[in-house]
Amino acid sequence: MTGTGFSPLTPQPYPSPREFKLSERAIGIFDSGVGGLTVLRELRRRLPYEELVYLGDTARVPYGTKSPQTVARYAREAARFLVGQQVKLLVVACNTASAVALDELAAIHRLPVVGVIEPGARGALAATRTGRIGVIGTEGTVRSRAYERALRAGNPAVEVFAAACPLFVPLAEEGWADHEIARLAAAEYLAPLLREQIDTLVLGCTHYPLLKRTLQELVGPEVTLIDSAEETAKTVAGLLAAQGLTHGPAAPGLPRYFVTDAAERFERVGGAFLGAPLVDVATVTLD
Ligand code: DGL
Repeated sequence: MTGTGFSPLTPQPYPSPREFKLSERAIGIFDSGVGGLTVLRELRRRLPYEELVYLGDTARVPYGTKSPQTVARYAREAARFLVGQQVKLLVVACNTASAVALDELAAIHRLPVVGVIEPGARGALAATRTGRIGVIGTEGTVRSRAYERALRAGNPAVEVFAAACPLFVPLAEEGWADHEIARLAAAEYLAPLLREQIDTLVLGCTHYPLLKRTLQELVGPEVTLIDSAEETAKTVAGLLAAQGLTHGPAAPGLPRYFVTDAAERFERVGGAFLGAPLVDVATVTLD
């Protein structure tokens, strides 16, 4: 027998997460609440063998009304928690945090960090025919002008019209995405963008795809809605493949969910959105 150090009769300990092959580790995803589930759903669709760990910072939602310094601190704490779960790649499934903290997180952690803004901008540039692009997001994302920069870096000729829609996040968290109140708020927020005759609308907040039906009805079929989740999943798939980190074919476990508060509400709203019950959502403290 060649020297592995073990006789065949020695019971082998179950490997601790540290001993898993890097490719077998999970992808970590975070957002302030249920919004990032839109990204998780696309990741599951595109990368069915991957293990997923999700963190919703529900104790501190919304991020969009907070200062960049505060959002960056929340993002550092969320990232540290997920890195502690031994993830191989981190998805910042939050536009507000991507806008202010992506570079910092990538500098702190020695693992690939993917945000949602660049992928969303790429999707919009591919979709627009007239070059008139609307962007809706939180106050923090709109103030950061991160989408304008990403869009103009791809095509300096595009015209970008942005609007903050602060009521959309609480409406999504409340499970009221299809409610009459959501329709009224959307009509009010989007009127200035529609006057600019945009042909493409970036849903620049991961909560907003929950309101997709309401928004598409309002803007009509001529305006293409860009949900950065799909593009983000594509980016993650490319990055894993390039770095040899793609999980081999195997049935993955169910995604593991953590929140910082109100697990029951997260289970209810998130489960309705994903169309499957969310169970065993654990509550954690981040600081
Ligand atoms: N879903 C997040 C985003 O994409 C955060 C929304 C919020 O907490 O305000 O911006």
